[in-house]
Amino acid sequence: MSTNIVDQDIDVFSTEATNTAININAVINPPCAFDKNIHYLPSDLIKLFGADKNTLLRKEKAKKIPGAIRIKKGGVECRAWTIDQLPLIGEELGFLKKIDFNYVISVFTLKGGTLKTSLAFQLARLIALHNMKVLVIGLDVQESITGIIQGVRHFKESDTWDEDSIINSPKGLYHALVENTPLRDVIQKTDLPTLDYIPETLELSILDRWLKLQRNQETIIKNKIVSKLKNEYNFVIFDCNPSWDTIVDNALESSNILLSPMTCSSDTYRAMKTFSKLIRDYTKETKTFKLFKVIPTRKKNTKVSTIIEAKFRTEYSEFCTNTSIRDSVLAEESNTLGKSLIELSYKQGLAQDYVDFAKEFIDQISLLEVEVHKCQ
Ligand SMILES: Nc1ncnc2c1ncn2[C@@H]1O[C@H](COP(=O)(O)OP(=O)(O)OP(=O)(O)O)[C@@H](O)[C@H]1O
Ligand SMILES: [Mg+2]
Repeated sequence: MSTNIVDQDIDVFSTEATNTAININAVINPPCAFDKNIHYLPSDLIKLFGADKNTLLRKEKAKKIPGAIRIKKGGVECRAWTIDQLPLIGEELGFLKKIDFNYVISVFTLKGGTLKTSLAFQLARLIALHNMKVLVIGLDVQESITGIIQGVRHFKESDTWDEDSIINSPKGLYHALVENTPLRDVIQKTDLPTLDYIPETLELSILDRWLKLQRNQETIIKNKIVSKLKNEYNFVIFDCNPSWDTIVDNALESSNILLSPMTCSSDTYRAMKTFSKLIRDYTKETKTFKLFKVIPTRKKNTKVSTIIEAKFRTEYSEFCTNTSIRDSVLAEESNTLGKSLIELSYKQGLAQDYVDFAKEFIDQISLLEVEVHKCQ
């Protein structure tokens, strides 16, 4: 990339720098806001979307993608695009077919650490890079997905005391529901114009209690938040907690898609037995999801991991995705920098797993739409 933010950030993870957290702050010097001054050269776009140079230039000439600006690099003028132009370019040159429908997804399992947050984040970002509008709503009081979306900015400690901004920000679901904060003040923008989020705040810890005291407690988020936003976004994605509380009930009630990542480990295999039964009962009693997918995650090259992945495929063949997400240290880097793996110039391994998963997911949605039209 022509600005060196990404390159600099990767330096942070060199063996020299990994030992100390102070290094992270010193090297990155995180900006308060998302850095929108990143420029993408033709070679960056070719890597990112897997397009070829001729197609890129042809599409630019035909005005199918935004026109490039010119920047100086090593004394030479080169074409470059800005980060906010990526979604329009992704729509033309990318690997996901844009869909024009609206879906609400819950990423949920009853087991902790199965990659719910990581998968929700990677999927959200890949979809947003293809010009589909995405709103991420994190439900974890530990601010998991909020921290990832904000990337290195999350580490920023201000050295000035500004009581107002400390007390008054950020606002999240609790403020929208309990204090009637307008949604426009709760929804935050990111560096991609197609990706917004509602930040997780500490008050999520008391939201569950508040919801339990309301009438129709399971449908409050659907009625007060999702119904108002659904048409603004192609996808609303809830990143759920691993415990089935009233907040999760609300997310599930709002959703027509359930994605359940399950690690290829024996304790998760056991948890899957209980979870699948609970979901079966839930869908019998309450609602049926248009799509329910189980995604094997943290697949390792071990015998047990391979056996469990195979068991997920055979025992839950109706629900299990063809793609598994492998175990890899690169996830940490992506989560820390707040960028999808392909944006960090990775093409193989874990990055390719997420690309394959996103393709499989969008294909499934397209099939759903075909079915809906057939029935009409
Ligand atoms: N492919 C991967 N391989 C190995 N570790 C990963 C991978 N993806 C993410 N991780 C790491 O695994 C940990 C758990 O991931 P994540 O937070 O996404 O799980 P989760 O299901 O959301 O957890 P929780 O149940 O606590 O919400 C994190 O430290 C994350 O960085
Ligand atoms: Mg999580």
